[in-house]
Amino acid sequence: MNRLIDSVRIVEVGPRDGLQSIDQIIPTSEKVKYINLLTDAGCPEIEVTSFVSPTWIPQLADGGEVSSAIHRNENSMYTALVPNQKGLEAALENDFRSVAIFTAASVTFCQKNTNCTIEESLKRFESMIPIWEEKQLRVRAYISTCWVCPYEGNVGAENVVKVIQDLLDLGVHEISLGDTIGKATPEDVEYLLEIILDNWPAEIFALHMHDTFNMAAENVTVGLGMGIRVLDASAGGIGGCPYAPGASGNISTETAVRICKEQGFETGIDIDKLKAAGKYIQSIIH
Ligand code: HMG
Ligand code: MG
Repeated sequence: MNRLIDSVRIVEVGPRDGLQSIDQIIPTSEKVKYINLLTDAGCPEIEVTSFVSPTWIPQLADGGEVSSAIHRNENSMYTALVPNQKGLEAALENDFRSVAIFTAASVTFCQKNTNCTIEESLKRFESMIPIWEEKQLRVRAYISTCWVCPYEGNVGAENVVKVIQDLLDLGVHEISLGDTIGKATPEDVEYLLEIILDNWPAEIFALHMHDTFNMAAENVTVGLGMGIRVLDASAGGIGGCPYAPGASGNISTETAVRICKEQGFETGIDIDKLKAAGKYIQSIIH
């Protein structure tokens, strides 16, 4: 039996997506403890923090301190979210071998989130290629608003397809399709994935579903049925983007692990330890 077909990689985004929009300032030591609990739970990939403008995201301004204090296990991959070359350089200074860049399928969200058009965001990424190639980094790319934009409403599949092609032309290794405000229905997910998977193999895609309207569980189930094997999730279900009005947390990692198990997929995550991590961060956030 091919184990690759039977396993799903869950990308734990709680420390980044989960903490970026919390109003309260969470002490660095508590973030570090949360991430260490996630490592102990066997999370195969953890998005630790972002290196973005501290004016835009003050909650993660201690990304450097967090990154140097966490305990890193060789069985987990640690990723940092970066919007530009300055962020990429910070990620390298903080020993990341994996980075995630981010753009969008709708121009208004891109502008509100990163102060540039989609084309300009791609230009920023292009200027980063010599560095990520020289350092042989793993590069993941998010496309936000693949289904619905908080400012423009429904987003056409052709916009998503174009950004996917542009990102693949830049040489990214994985593309995470974002339902930024959790408005996609299972039918919407199936419709877009059919178009995408007619053009590219499922292996290069992840689903990043926010759970604002309790549809994330159904949506990832549709994705798994269509061959998607990478899911983004956040322990405790925390999260949201401050520049996406209405966005609430990602699908919880606890739910994602349960769905994978029910569907016969292994995740390698210890559910009891994961629940402890989720409870820990929920006990801190109020
Ligand atoms: P800007 O103001 O246009 O940038 O912002 P700039 O290049 O003009 O620089 C302005 C200042 O920011 C300068 O400092 C730069 O040095 C500094 P000053 O000279 O004024 O003192 N700066 C930085 N500082 C630290 N790290 C950096 C950096 N870059 C510039 N990397 C920028 C452009 C992209 C920087 C800004 O818009 C930004 O930081 N945006 C990030 C917003 C963000 O993090 N949003 C949440 C993450 S995305 C998300 O949640 C969606 C996702 O989960 C998927 C989904 O759900 O759909 C991924
Ligand atoms: Mg998100």
